[in-house]
Amino acid sequence: MEKKEQLYEGKAKKVFATEDAACCIVSYKDDATAFNGEKRGTIAGKGVVNNRMTNLMMQLLEKQGVPTHFVEELSERDTVVKKVSIVPLEVIIRNVSAGSFAKRYGVEEGIVFDEPTIEFSYKNDALGDPLINSYHALALKLASKEEIETIKKYAFKVNEVLKEYFLQLGVKLIDFKLEFGRLADGTIVLADEISPDTCRFWDAKTNEKLDKDRFRRDMGGVEAAYQEIFKRVTEAK
Ligand code: TMP
Ligand code: ASP
Repeated sequence: MEKKEQLYEGKAKKVFATEDAACCIVSYKDDATAFNGEKRGTIAGKGVVNNRMTNLMMQLLEKQGVPTHFVEELSERDTVVKKVSIVPLEVIIRNVSAGSFAKRYGVEEGIVFDEPTIEFSYKNDALGDPLINSYHALALKLASKEEIETIKKYAFKVNEVLKEYFLQLGVKLIDFKLEFGRLADGTIVLADEISPDTCRFWDAKTNEKLDKDRFRRDMGGVEAAYQEIFKRVTEAK
């Protein structure tokens, strides 16, 4: 399959049309942003890590019964995916307090929850992706009741599968963000990416951060962290 016209350019990926109206090609860039685009930079090799890691995760999840948009990896940075219309919700699952949760509720990072939490943000850059609840999502007609139930079910399933998977690699899955899409027939599938850009990964022994927080927080060792998590994932394959 080949790239035709560019349909969209986001902060970290480009999306191209293909000869098949039901498919797109996503192309992963090394560009990184944080805080709604306020902070910008480049993370060398990130596009390759995020593309390949996402594809491995999507295939693992498919096997575990979570439908995804994944079709075929074309190259280091390019992947064929099913065309979806994205449900404008960022779905965030947390196992351990960190990031905006710790800040919002005034707690330290690293508190292990008895049960995972779920939250939604309204995917809207102009508004800064505000936190919303499922009633707000319904009121705004972002998704139907049934779709929200399906999304919740899949999101918790993704957490079960990935938490266990990463623990075997000596990595704690702290939290992550998912996006879902609708196929032409309305079927909900997991879309977007699962990568160090969209997950928090802490080394199980040292709690060292192996994700984009090193970029967000100017901690250094950004490229090395992406390579370290990638090495663990590819060696486990
Ligand atoms: P948060 O603690 O900043 O709300 O982030 C929760 C998770 O979501 C974390 O794993 C990083 C991820 N995330 C994204 O993928 N995109 C975003 O724009 C933000 C703010 C967070
Ligand atoms: N990708 C998001 C942005 O550019 C933020 C983040 O991942 O922290 O705003």
